[in-house]
Amino acid sequence: MRVINTNKEMSRACREAVKPVGLVPTMGALHSGHLSLIDQARADNLTAVVSIFVNPTQFGDPKDLEKYPRDMEGDLDLLRHHGVDLVYAPAPEEVYPEGFDTWVDVGSLADKLEGIHRPGHFRGVATVVSKLFNVMLPNRAYFGQKDGQQTALIQKLARDLDMGVEVVVMPTIRESDGLAMSSRNVQLSPEQRQAAPVVHRALCQSHLLWIQGERDGDTLRDAARTVLQSESKVESIDYVSVAGMLTLDELERVDGRAMVSTAVQMGAVRLIDNIVLE
Ligand code: PAJ
Repeated sequence: MRVINTNKEMSRACREAVKPVGLVPTMGALHSGHLSLIDQARADNLTAVVSIFVNPTQFGDPKDLEKYPRDMEGDLDLLRHHGVDLVYAPAPEEVYPEGFDTWVDVGSLADKLEGIHRPGHFRGVATVVSKLFNVMLPNRAYFGQKDGQQTALIQKLARDLDMGVEVVVMPTIRESDGLAMSSRNVQLSPEQRQAAPVVHRALCQSHLLWIQGERDGDTLRDAARTVLQSESKVESIDYVSVAGMLTLDELERVDGRAMVSTAVQMGAVRLIDNIVLE
């Protein structure tokens, strides 16, 4: 496994790599959710590439960026064991050199849900993912349904800008109690950790009603909200959404594929999760 820190060297390594190349972009602090993407990239491609970069432009609050978990040595060990060929781990100055001032603006998809609560977040995500695609020119790139809006937005970005990358979406990996795995979960106190599965339970409640035939958007949203409100460790609910998969517009009635998603604040941690109705 080669670990590379510069654009130029990474670009060359990917050009010379045996195709197809599969890329998994990450911010490190790797867990089984990331590893499921990596294993799929390994299985589908002849070269598996992982990027580890805590992207400063997608963080609103500098304190959040500072306390984001980092474990480069542990991550590299895991990647070696999972048969990764190339790791790209650039410094922030390599990705955003002095004078950097060109951004990828992803339009209306970025202004909803997470975008309302994290202004500028998706501009940072879209910009860094575009840069990673340009450096590595992967044939495929792997993203998790865990970040449902991010996934929708990257699929659109790849289409709109003719990136020539096949975007592969992988299911959310959960702890045994339903909590979606996330690098941020380590920041939960033991009591919060115990309460955190309420997020998945809330989504499941809405899913259950849908399975039973309920199609009214408000009823499905209310069902999830009621479960969230029953847990005192949930300090605030940023949103409960039932939206179309592609547009992320709120639905009055669920007819096609839809995503139930939510974001809640629990102590210092913001938990996001979603479930797809299909
Ligand atoms: P990060 O949060 O490290 O996640 C990297 C990838 O792993 C994303 O595609 C995310 O959706 C996926 N992932 C995280 N938790 C998962 C889980 N429990 N199950 C399945 N997949 C999961 O998302 C980012 O980094 C960044 O925004 C990035 C795309 C790297 C751009 O900076």
